This record gives sequence, C-alpha cells and structure tokens, in this order.
Amino acid sequence: MNIRLRSPREIELMRVAGKLAADVLVMIEPHIQAGITTGELDDLCQDYIVNTQHAISACLGYHGYPKCVCISINEEVCHGIPGKRKLKEGDMLNIDVTVIKDDYYGDTSKMFVVGQTTPVNKRLIATTQEALYAALRVVRAGANLTDIGDTIQKIADRERFSIVREYCGHGISNQFHEEPTVLHYRNHDSLLLEAGMTFTIEPMINAGTWRTKLNKKNGWTVTTADKLGSAQFEHTILVTHDGCEVLTIRPEEEEAGVISRILHNVKDAAPAATQD
Ligand code: MF3
Ligand code: CO
Ligand code: CO
Repeated sequence: MNIRLRSPREIELMRVAGKLAADVLVMIEPHIQAGITTGELDDLCQDYIVNTQHAISACLGYHGYPKCVCISINEEVCHGIPGKRKLKEGDMLNIDVTVIKDDYYGDTSKMFVVGQTTPVNKRLIATTQEALYAALRVVRAGANLTDIGDTIQKIADRERFSIVREYCGHGISNQFHEEPTVLHYRNHDSLLLEAGMTFTIEPMINAGTWRTKLNKKNGWTVTTADKLGSAQFEHTILVTHDGCEVLTIRPEEEEAGVISRILHNVKDAAPAATQD
C-alpha cells in the first residue's frame, strides 16, 4: 500500500475542515429533543454548513446520497437517511457529519440520547466512546494499523458486545474515502503508521450480533441483523511522530479531560526539542 503523507499545507487545511465538522455536532446538540424530525435536524446542519461555515456537505450527492448528514437511530448502524421520523424519549442516535472546505475533508460523528435511555444503551455508548479513545491512544509513527483493531476488540469483548465488520475507517484528505482501510476488529492488516498519515477511526459496536442488514428500499441504511442497538463515534486524525492530532476534537472532550487535541502516545519519547 502506498499511502500519501500530507504536506504542512494540507495538514493546515485538514485542521480547518476537521474543526468545521466538529462545530456542526456542537451546533446541533441543543436541537436534539423529542418531537423534532431527523429531516429538521438535517436542514439545520445543511443551513449551518452552507451559510455560516461557507463549506459543503461531503455526503450530499455522494454516490447519490440524498441528505446532508447521516442520522442513525437505535438499531441503525450507519447511513440513516434523515426524513420524517420524529425523535422520541429514550432514542439513541448517531449524527455523522462530513464537510469539505477548500477541497479538504473533516469527518466525525457522535452519539446523542433523547432524555433518558436504557442501561444497555448507556453502556453501549460509553463502551464505543471508550474504544475510540483507547484506539486514539495507540496511534503514533511506528505503531501498526493492527494495534487499532486489537485495542477496540479488547474493550468490546470485555463488555460482551460485538464489532461491525463490513464498515470501516478510512484514509481521508482531499478525497472522502481513500487508503488505508481501518478495521475496528482484531485483524492481520498490518501497516506501519507514519507521521503525516490522515485517516478516520469510527468503531460501530453492537449490543448483539455483529451482522448487519442493508435496507434495500433506500439502498443506504444499515441496521443490525437482530435489531438490537448499535453505537458509533468517529474522529479524523493525523499521525504524528509520538502520537496523533485529533482534527475533529470538540471542546466538550477537552473540558471533560478525556482526550486532548494533541496526544503524546510514546511514553518514553525524547524531549520534543530534539525531534523533528
Ligand atoms: N461519514 C461516513 C463515513 O464515516 C460516510 C457517509 S457516506 C454517505 O465514512 F453518503 F452516506 F453520507
Ligand atoms: Co468516516
Ligand atoms: Co463519518
């Protein structure tokens, strides 16, 4: 595999696009309430991206995808199409936002809940977020792509949850989906990570079976085969010499102290001044 390393100029553009994608998730949060339709949430995102951010949605028109963002509720794994469905108390939902600004992409998603949800949904959401954060903490130049799947698998196994296999993270820069493919389960897809690579990590974790089913009517929406719940979180990252930079980090994550924008994952790193 020949994976392009990003130039300083490209990295700067990725930072801008990443921040815009994250900002959409921050903007939409207060609107997530029982009674609003997913189509209304989508309209708010589209208006914000176009008129406030002066950017565009990467999803709208992508292989014919009809909306601005993906909104996947409860047993929907990914690619839920916004429409007339109303959110109701107890729903959990993932909103996945990808924006393009000056030809560069930022791709991120998080889970929301409407009011209170079930204990198993709460555990599923917390586990998926923990798995993403743990994966971010093993990324560094010199680590292997397989370390990501390994890390996520351990956490899902501990909770007796399963990991979706057909949908993966991906390289991203001035294209939406490029090499490498990032598997979220234990695998042998080895690739030495290098500083300057940019890709997403976006585990989808299920309460029951890992098997999924594609909605043949709309051609997009993926649900769990057993209709049990599914959760997902996604960040776009840049591999650095001693860790990674989380290009789509939100202020709430830094404030909670769960991750920071710059992660130093090499414990015994030499002082920064002696490095590139
Ligand atoms: N944002 C999704 C991802 O993480 C892709 C959505 S493609 C769409 O890769 F067409 F469904 F929007
Ligand atoms: Co993605
Ligand atoms: Co995405």
